[in-house]
Amino acid sequence: MRLLALSGSLRARSSTGAVLRSALDLHQGPATTADIGALPHFNPDLDGEDATPPPPVAALRTAAAAADAILVVSPEYAHGVPGVLKNALDWLVSSGECVDKPVAVITASPFPTGGDHANAQLRETLRMMSAEVVPAACREIPAIGPKTDPATERVTDEATLADLRAALSHLTTGPASAPA
Ligand SMILES: Cc1cc2nc3c(=O)[nH]c(=O)nc-3n(C[C@H](O)[C@H](O)[C@H](O)COP(=O)(O)O)c2cc1C
Repeated sequence: MRLLALSGSLRARSSTGAVLRSALDLHQGPATTADIGALPHFNPDLDGEDATPPPPVAALRTAAAAADAILVVSPEYAHGVPGVLKNALDWLVSSGECVDKPVAVITASPFPTGGDHANAQLRETLRMMSAEVVPAACREIPAIGPKTDPATERVTDEATLADLRAALSHLTTGPASAPA
């Protein structure tokens, strides 16, 4: 199963990036990440039937179309979704690559809440896009800081790694296998 992974953090040594990399290490199959920081701001004028999408948008859409499932990993900013990630999803609304595609939303935060606001908002947006959000594959990871190693840029906490493995299993086997 081919995964497309999107990170909501552009920060170097990002804890979100560590979660994403560890998840991809655990994934038993091909995977790609999209450089959503290169996307222009979404503008419907650039998104019409007669418009040629800017190259980074075309690349994102090609990667999304080629994926069997999508993994979204994100921090939470001001109780919301980072703008760069919402922007990427906006570019995928009308083009339709997410329709009926299994998606996992994983948020991570230094706080006990695990980015619950951003997680709920991302799920809502993806559902509106007709993606197949897989509840059992979604996670809100609290107190992420000490669970990662900045040197390897990976998750080191064994319980979190086991939970990521379980989440990926639910994502790649589909919603029918998982309780809501
Ligand atoms: C502008 C800003 C707003 C933030 N707002 C929240 C928030 O509402 N909830 C939360 O859990 N963390 C919040 N944080 C903390 C981030 O979760 C934290 O910086 C996290 O490490 C960012 O992820 P990263 O390491 O992948 O860049 C905020 C951070 C910044 C810079």
